[in-house]
Amino acid sequence: MQDQIKQLLTKILVDMNVSDVIPQVSLSSSSDHGEFSSNVAMLLAKKIDKSPMEIAEEIKQKLITHKPADNLLEKIVVVKPGFVNIYVNRAFLVSQLKYLLEGQEKIDGKGKSYKYIVEYSSPNIAKPFTVGHLRSTIIGDAIANLLEATGNKVYRDNHLGDWGTQFGKQIYAIKTWGNEAEMDASENPVKDLVALYVRFHDEAEKNPSLEDEGRAWFKKLEDGDPEARRLWKKCIDWSWKEFNRIYSELNVEFTENEGRGFGEAYFEDKMQSVIEELKAKKLLHVGEQGAQIVEFPSDFKLPPLMILKKDGATLYSTRDLATDKFRLEHYGKAIIIINEVGGEQSLYFRQLYKLEEMLGWFYPEQRMHKKHGLYRFQEGKMSTRKGNVIWLEDVLDEAKKRAYNLQFDNISYPNDEIKEKVQNTIQLGKGEKTEIEDRAKAVAIGAIKWNDLKRNSEQDILFDWDDILNMHGNSGPYMQYVYVRCLSILEKAKSNTLDVEGQDVQERISDFEGYTFKSEEFELLRQLCFFETILKQAAKELAPHMLCTYLFELAQVFNHFYQKVPVLHAENETQKKFRLLLVSVTAKVIKKGLHILGMETPEKM
Ligand code: ARG
Repeated sequence: MQDQIKQLLTKILVDMNVSDVIPQVSLSSSSDHGEFSSNVAMLLAKKIDKSPMEIAEEIKQKLITHKPADNLLEKIVVVKPGFVNIYVNRAFLVSQLKYLLEGQEKIDGKGKSYKYIVEYSSPNIAKPFTVGHLRSTIIGDAIANLLEATGNKVYRDNHLGDWGTQFGKQIYAIKTWGNEAEMDASENPVKDLVALYVRFHDEAEKNPSLEDEGRAWFKKLEDGDPEARRLWKKCIDWSWKEFNRIYSELNVEFTENEGRGFGEAYFEDKMQSVIEELKAKKLLHVGEQGAQIVEFPSDFKLPPLMILKKDGATLYSTRDLATDKFRLEHYGKAIIIINEVGGEQSLYFRQLYKLEEMLGWFYPEQRMHKKHGLYRFQEGKMSTRKGNVIWLEDVLDEAKKRAYNLQFDNISYPNDEIKEKVQNTIQLGKGEKTEIEDRAKAVAIGAIKWNDLKRNSEQDILFDWDDILNMHGNSGPYMQYVYVRCLSILEKAKSNTLDVEGQDVQERISDFEGYTFKSEEFELLRQLCFFETILKQAAKELAPHMLCTYLFELAQVFNHFYQKVPVLHAENETQKKFRLLLVSVTAKVIKKGLHILGMETPEKM
C-alpha cells in the first residue's frame, strides 16, 4: 500500500514538473488521521512560490482525479501546516486480508532486491560464548530473516575467532597443565580451556617468561608444526561441542562454509595478497613503534590502523581485510556486508570500512556495522581473563526452568507446602523430553530473544528475569500467549480459517463488501494491513525492534477488540465470520512475525 501511494505521488510530481523531490509517506499513528500521511507539500513549498496548504490542496485534487483503478483511496484530507492525510478504502483493506492469510503480503516483486552477507555470532574458539555473542546471534539472525522475508538473497556467515596469538598461550597451557583425555570426555570442555587460560595469565604474572613460551607456540602453529596444529584443532572441536548445542537451542543456522562460517583461520593464507595490495597502493607505512600501519586522511579524524605487528605477525584487522577481499571475489562486487558486532568495536569498524573504501573495494553503503549494546547483569561486566564469567548455558537453563514453572503458576494449590513439592518435582530434568519441556524451551528462548529484540539494539540491556517472563507486559511469553489465545478462539469456533486456500478466502472476502465496521474491528483490520509496510521498513533499517513494536501493538489492539466485541456470540453470521477472519489473520501475522524474529509459536501454553 505504502509503495502504491508513493508511486501515485511520484506521478503527480512528474505532472507538476518536479523531479528532485522524493515523496515521503508514513504510517499514521491514529486512525483519526487516516492510514498514511505525506509531507510532500511542505517539501515542495521550499521550491515553488506557494504555501504548503495550497500545494497540499492541489495534490489532493490530483490524487482524486488520478484515483487508481483498484479503488485504493477512500478520502484525502489536508491538515495544517500542509500534511496530506490519506484514508485507504475500507474494501481495499479487507481485500488485503487475503494476502495476509495466504502468508504472501505483497512484498513488492518489482522492488529492488539485494545480495547480503549477514555476519553474526562470531564467538571465539577456546573462550566462552558470551552474552555479547548471544546478542549478536539473536539480532543477526533476525536481520537475516527480515532481509530474506522481504525478497533479498542472504548469506549467513559466522566469523569465528579461531586464529591469533592467544592460541600460543592456550597450547602451552594445555601441554603444561591440561588433561586431554578428561577434556575429550567432558560435556563442556570450554570451561576447562577457560580455566587453563586464566591459569596461564596468573602464572605469567609471576613468571613473565611464559609470554615468550606462548609466542613460541604461536610461531610453531603458524609454521605448521604438527603438534601445535593438532592441539589447535582440538580446541576448535571442543568449542564446537558447545556452539552446536547453543545454536540448536537457539534454532539458528549459518549457510557459509558448510554451516560453520568462514572463521579467521580460513584467511590465514589469504593475508599475503592483501598486504601486497596495500603496499602496491602505497597505503602501508612503518609507524613509530615499528609496526606496519595505515594512516587516514586527516579530515576523517581516525587514528592509524595497525596491519602488521613489529615482528611481522598478522592481526584481527589483517584477517578482516582478507575476509572482505575474499567476499568481494567470491560473491561479486554487488554485495552488502553487515557485521553484527558489539558497539565497543565501533571505531575499529570505521577504520576498516574507510580503508576498504580507500582500496577501492566497496562504497560506504555496502559496509554496515550493526552494533549492539552490552548485556548488564547486577554483578557487573564480565571478563574472560579473570574467569568471572556468566555462562550462557546457565542463562538458558535458568530461563527454561522458569518458563517451565510459569506453566504451573496459574494452578491454585491447597497450600504453599504442596505448591513447593509439586514445583520441585517438575523442575526441568536434563535429557527427558516431554511436551511441557518443549514448550518451556520455546517460551524460554522466545523470552530471551524478544527481550533483546524489542529495543533498539544499540541500547544496553539490564537483564531482569521478572521482566523477561512477565506474561502481562511487553514480553515474549505474552506475545506467544496472544497467539495461543487466537488459536483457542478459532478452535472453539471450529473454524479452520487458518488453513483455507486462496479461492475460498477470495469468496469469503467478497462476503464482506459493504460491511459496516465497529471501530474495534476497523482498528484491528487497519493494524493487520500495516504488516507489509512494517516488514519493509524494519528490513530497510535493519531494525527488528520495529517489527516487535508493531507486533506488540497488534496484540494490544487485538486484546481490545476481543474484550469489546463478541466473536463467538456475534449478533449475526456475517459478523461472526468477519470477526473470525480477523482472528485468523491476527494469528497468521503474529506467527509469521515471531518466526522472523526467530521465535517459536507453541500451540498451547
Ligand atoms: N570474534 C570477535 C569477538 O568476539 C567478533 C568478530 C566480529 N567480526 C569481524 N568481522 N571482525 O569480539
